[in-house]
Amino acid sequence: MPATPSPLDMDATEFRKLGQQLVELMTRALGVEHNEPVMAPTTGQEIIDLVNEDLPRHGIPAERVLALCSDPLLRFGRRNGHPRFFGYVCGSADPVAILADALATAFNQNLTAWRSSPAAVEIERLVIRWLDAMVGFAGDGHGMLVSGGSAANLQALTCAVTQAEQQASLPSGSRHRLTIYLSREGHLSMIKAARLLGLADDHIRLIEVDDDRRLRLDDLRHKIEHDLTSGLIPAAVCGSAGTSNTGTIDPLDALADLAAQHDIWFHIDGAYGAPAAMVPEYRWMARAFARADSLSLDPHKWLYSPLDSGCILYRDAAASQQAFALDSEYIAVTQTDPRESFAYFNHGAELSRRFRALKIWATIKTHGVDRLTDTIALNITLRRHLDNRVEEHPNLELLGSELSISCFRYHPPNTADNNLLNTLNRQILETLVAEGRVLMSPTTLDGRYALRVCIVNFRTRASDIDLLIDEVLRLGESFSSNA
Ligand SMILES: Cc1ncc(COP(=O)(O)O)c(C=O)c1O
Repeated sequence: MPATPSPLDMDATEFRKLGQQLVELMTRALGVEHNEPVMAPTTGQEIIDLVNEDLPRHGIPAERVLALCSDPLLRFGRRNGHPRFFGYVCGSADPVAILADALATAFNQNLTAWRSSPAAVEIERLVIRWLDAMVGFAGDGHGMLVSGGSAANLQALTCAVTQAEQQASLPSGSRHRLTIYLSREGHLSMIKAARLLGLADDHIRLIEVDDDRRLRLDDLRHKIEHDLTSGLIPAAVCGSAGTSNTGTIDPLDALADLAAQHDIWFHIDGAYGAPAAMVPEYRWMARAFARADSLSLDPHKWLYSPLDSGCILYRDAAASQQAFALDSEYIAVTQTDPRESFAYFNHGAELSRRFRALKIWATIKTHGVDRLTDTIALNITLRRHLDNRVEEHPNLELLGSELSISCFRYHPPNTADNNLLNTLNRQILETLVAEGRVLMSPTTLDGRYALRVCIVNFRTRASDIDLLIDEVLRLGESFSSNA
């Protein structure tokens, strides 16, 4: 048995030196000092050629490893924080949160329960109370940070299904009688969650939407009543506070009424849109949040947090406890003080949990709620600026727009052929993405291929939106004249 220090350990001098190298690499990773592309074009083969190698039997110095591990990412990573990254609902990462997250990794706390990381758990509980207050959920600070919106929706629906089973005194194995309701535009993670929970596919009721893509209350009412008379058990009504597709917000107040009338769990998927409730224009959403049994919201989407940081807020800690708490001798909680006996594993799916809260805490402390609110409001203003530019131009058509998402297409007035327009817009999008100056994602709205822009980025300015519009017009004109 060796008495010497482990070769895996590192002394403070070397750690500090490597840390300086790391900060240089992280600064380059931010990409804000360079006018770099959003994403360089590449192929799977090119990246495999760069990263693939035999399993190393012997190591190399850590400073070379650090340089090597950032190389493929600097060359071929997608810069989600680039001011013209408009694809998907993926926020730009606040630099102070990036640093705080690195620190959280150094502390390597495991937030299973208060007893395993007392200070970190209290910081997470504080962050949950702050997030709750920011969006107006008006709860008692129950909830937790999770990997993202999918995990948050899964935990919420687990509570809903457990509660429905208990209220109906269903014997185990009777989940085939439960139903849940969400709009056709609702996020696929809720469908996935319901399937994981054992609900039958045809009991995941996809409610029709109106012309603005909002859930239609008449269809919801009809489906709930039909299911009740058929002996089925509605477990959850789910509303969206901003869909991924077009940013659409469901009629949340009316959904709360309907869920209350039938005593059904009311869940709101605000993974993307909930932080908009901080902005006066969308503050009305908070009225409905305050009536929901659970709310998903993702700081890694529209609160400028690095991945991964999702959050689930629960109205009632007893409901999450019912859904998740299990007795086991090897994790039995022995503390008796109510604060100190708290265990996240009694309220969620994970046992080991990383210290996600520190980066969110750092962002809120550094900027304060007012600056964050102004930044979210600016993203919404920029979406409006984009809508105006689209509506002012005869060759552009707006197809759907809400919160900070806008969908439009290139559509010269003399072209009526939808297939041709779809091909043209696909060409525009693929070329723009390949050129690397702008990144958007596509969607299809009523058969129309749309250019979808999502602005959840504190670096984006009006000049970035103008560049995007100018590029779409340039390519649209060029492809149309060559057609
Ligand atoms: C409205 C909505 N809900 C849920 C999710 C899933 O979130 P995640 O990707 O963090 O799991 C997304 C992702 O974009 C979303 O926009």
